[in-house]
Amino acid sequence: MPTKRSLPPHPRAVVTGAGRGLGRALALALARRGGRVVVSDIEREGAEETARLVREAGGEAHVVLCDVRERSAVFALAEAAEARLGAVDLVCNNAGVAVAGPFEEVSNEDWRWVVDINLMGVVYGCQAFAPGMLARRSGFILNVASAAGIVSTPRMAPYNTTKAAVVALSETLHAELHDRNIAVSVLCPTFFETGIMEASRGPMSAREKGKASKAMRLSKVQAPDVARAALDGLERGELYVLPMRDARVFWRLKRTQPQAFADFLKGGIERLAKVLLRGRA
Ligand SMILES: NC(=O)c1ccc[n+]([C@@H]2O[C@H](COP(=O)([O-])OP(=O)(O)OC[C@H]3O[C@@H](n4cnc5c(N)ncnc54)[C@H](O)[C@@H]3O)[C@@H](O)[C@H]2O)c1
Repeated sequence: MPTKRSLPPHPRAVVTGAGRGLGRALALALARRGGRVVVSDIEREGAEETARLVREAGGEAHVVLCDVRERSAVFALAEAAEARLGAVDLVCNNAGVAVAGPFEEVSNEDWRWVVDINLMGVVYGCQAFAPGMLARRSGFILNVASAAGIVSTPRMAPYNTTKAAVVALSETLHAELHDRNIAVSVLCPTFFETGIMEASRGPMSAREKGKASKAMRLSKVQAPDVARAALDGLERGELYVLPMRDARVFWRLKRTQPQAFADFLKGGIERLAKVLLRGRA
């Protein structure tokens, strides 16, 4: 049974990659709870804008720039956050990027880029914030993975691989830190509209990018819904937070009929997209 535990009334939180997209939505969801939020991003402009929106929504905001690829920068972020907030109740390891395309055409540079941000950025976030939480015997960690972490569609090997690793890391920490009162959730949404496609790298065709962007645009569940679902799931003590119905269906199929589901995926993202576009939820 999951252990339910509410975030404190004015959660002291850190969100990485909070300059736009889901990170901004998480910061705003926390602001609506009267949160005191460290808004972190690699880019200043978006972070400052998010901070303005957080204050407008009734929260407190501090901008701390951080490139999550740099271990020392993530530790400096944790130090700055503790100095400004006193302590950190929640860290949202959200910063992430996409690399996709045919496996044999993806460059080593692109593999490194996505592994350094999507995987090592999350590892550093857990390493940097867990000690303070362990010392206080209290804390929440939200790792942002993706439905790609549980459903491995073709032509997305780098992204899928990093997200599956974030799921594994989160599963491990959920079990390891549970008896020291640290809740760990991993967020696995399907598509919703953000800047991730524009920032993506790798040998994706224009058609593939267009399809993904369309699926993002048409999703009935958008960043604010995903952010709300993430915080609710975290408080319910859920390890896996799957805000979209399609992801829940795919995941159930994978667990109950793994071979049949693997064969279905041979139809590629196009086949999956058809299902996604038909049954958005
Ligand atoms: N949009 C989707 O459909 C979708 C689906 C599933 C999971 N996700 C995940 O949600 C998370 C947020 O992505 P998004 O969709 O909001 O994308 P986005 O591109 O809109 O936002 C990502 C943010 O991360 C920042 N960032 C990039 N590299 C960074 C680095 N090295 N250090 C710190 N910050 C960095 C960017 O500046 C940007 O503000 C990612 O982990 C992504 O994989 C997104």
